[in-house]
Amino acid sequence: MTVLEVIKKSTEFLAGKGVESPRLQAELLLAQVLGVPRMNLYLQFERVLAVEETDALRELVRRRGRREPLQHIVGSTSFCGLELAVNRHVLVPRPETELLAELGWQFLAALNSEHATALDLGTGSGCLAVALAVHCPAARVWASDVSADALAVARTNAARQNVTDRIHFGQGDGFRALPPGTRFDLIASNPPYVPTAEIAALEPEVRDYDPRPALDGGGDGLDFHRRIAAEAAAFLKPGGRLMLEFGDGQSDALRAILEIQKWIVEAVRADYSQRPRILVARAG
Ligand SMILES: C[S@@+](CC[C@H](N)C(=O)[O-])C[C@H]1O[C@@H](n2cnc3c(N)ncnc32)[C@H](O)[C@@H]1O
Repeated sequence: MTVLEVIKKSTEFLAGKGVESPRLQAELLLAQVLGVPRMNLYLQFERVLAVEETDALRELVRRRGRREPLQHIVGSTSFCGLELAVNRHVLVPRPETELLAELGWQFLAALNSEHATALDLGTGSGCLAVALAVHCPAARVWASDVSADALAVARTNAARQNVTDRIHFGQGDGFRALPPGTRFDLIASNPPYVPTAEIAALEPEVRDYDPRPALDGGGDGLDFHRRIAAEAAAFLKPGGRLMLEFGDGQSDALRAILEIQKWIVEAVRADYSQRPRILVARAG
């Protein structure tokens, strides 16, 4: 079969399995098999594939048809322009979290300090911690998670981006991962925020492949946010900021949770589809 023929066949198969953007996904999988950039396929539509190449593609397309995320199949994703490893132990970083990273590094850069420190609480793949360390070369970053498997991925990503010497990793439940008395200029977190009852209705790529502890935020999705609101102030330096991601529709509830704990909410930022998703606060 030619490149164009396998793309068409794979597209039909993936469409039948309910995969979004099936043509794009088919092309990305074929590009992975051939080890070429996707656009390169357009220059070789008539090329006849070797049997091993079609076999390899068939296997990847089958996996995608079972709704395994593309990022798991290719083993990586792009976050703030950084190529990061991902697997079934970590949430696949989402575009809205890039906004949190950007707000974080802008805040740290404005401190203009040789001693700026940041915490990424619930680091998963390490995407926030690594992006902060890359963009703020003077900053020291803590990355914590309850999952040892997630921390292994985060360490891999720190090493790949050459920032291992500026990231400390800590395993534990919430702030218990940190030595008492540690204080940060910035605490950034993308906590789990899906209400438990809504998990079953998520797309299979998320429901079946993102780790459950990365999704499940309890009854209203804000259990972990409540803990952060109650405990984070003790870990902030004077003038420090708390930046939290939250789910679509949770903005008012989260603001109320923070204000009860005496936080001053400075800003709520919207994602690329204009939905409020990031809250910035300082201790009151
Ligand atoms: C929504 S994911 C975010 C991962 C990553 N920061 C990102 O933005 O892609 C939440 C992360 O919090 C971690 N987590 C869940 N409960 C935790 C707890 N009690 N203490 C520490 N980390 C926790 C999960 O293992 C997961 O890696």
